[in-house]
Amino acid sequence: MADKTKILIDCDPGHDDAVAILFAARQLDLLAITTVHGNNTVENTTRNALSVLALAGLDVPVAQGLADPLAMARISVAAMHGKSGLDGATLPEPVRKPIAAHAIDVIIETASKHRGELVVALVGPQTNFAAALAREPKLAQWVREITIMGGSATLGNVTPAAEFNVYADPEAAAAVFACGAPIRMVGYNVTRLTGFDQGDIDRMKASGKRVAGTIADLMGFYLERQRRTFGLTVAPMHDVCAVVPYVAPDFIRYVETTVQVELAGTLTRGMTVCDMRTVRPGARSDVKVAGTPNARVALESQNRPLIDLVVDTLLTYS
Ligand code: BDR
Ligand code: CA
Repeated sequence: MADKTKILIDCDPGHDDAVAILFAARQLDLLAITTVHGNNTVENTTRNALSVLALAGLDVPVAQGLADPLAMARISVAAMHGKSGLDGATLPEPVRKPIAAHAIDVIIETASKHRGELVVALVGPQTNFAAALAREPKLAQWVREITIMGGSATLGNVTPAAEFNVYADPEAAAAVFACGAPIRMVGYNVTRLTGFDQGDIDRMKASGKRVAGTIADLMGFYLERQRRTFGLTVAPMHDVCAVVPYVAPDFIRYVETTVQVELAGTLTRGMTVCDMRTVRPGARSDVKVAGTPNARVALESQNRPLIDLVVDTLLTYS
């Protein structure tokens, strides 16, 4: 059997972040977790990551990262995940503390140690990775790929144009998209409808298993928030969608294109402008070419098999 993909998850748990962690720990070689501001303060997202690991009996190093975006004030905590960042169930107290190293150092050191092998999953605002790039520009050559849950090829969630993770630190996202590393962008256009429905939640609850049961309670809360806010009938599993492709590469379809982050727009700050035109080499010069493709952008997912794989994986925990 081929070796499991080595992965580091940079996250802000967050309901869907928690599922991404549990999925990666079972299916991939999860080397480290780094935390960032986003769905809640970095203190709470770190604590939530440690509690999720305690729930599942996992021992993965967690390094706390940056508390604020690179060039603006932190935007107020997303209502979607509740007061703690992970409302809906009582999680166990963390068993471990975060490691002493800073997230930025852990990202650089892990990528340096596993050159050409490490996938870095950015499933919160991209502040830590952008800061790591500023400190060590060779990082872009060391990683195998960056997989991003962030941005959108169509609509936003936090504004009509912008998705939360990019909107929460657009300058960081711009630096990451421009860094030259291979990038997979699994954005809100796909993740919005790829989630747990009530049947999935009931199935996890009925299993009688501690981990799946707790996730079911968390997702009941999250589904209700999504229903009230956007009228959705699924709890979107945004973050795990950026991780699943390393286990099941065919569930998501992509286009290779240019992604640029809007930093100035009054209505569109934080938008990921994806070039969906089919401009041919040699096209008239008044058609502005956006640049060399810098990302593989997700267009469509096979929701049901993808979510079934995630639920089946969660059910492997006792
Ligand atoms: C993203 O924002 C967060 O609330 C989720 O965890 C996900 O990473 C979706 O826009
Ligand atoms: Ca997240």
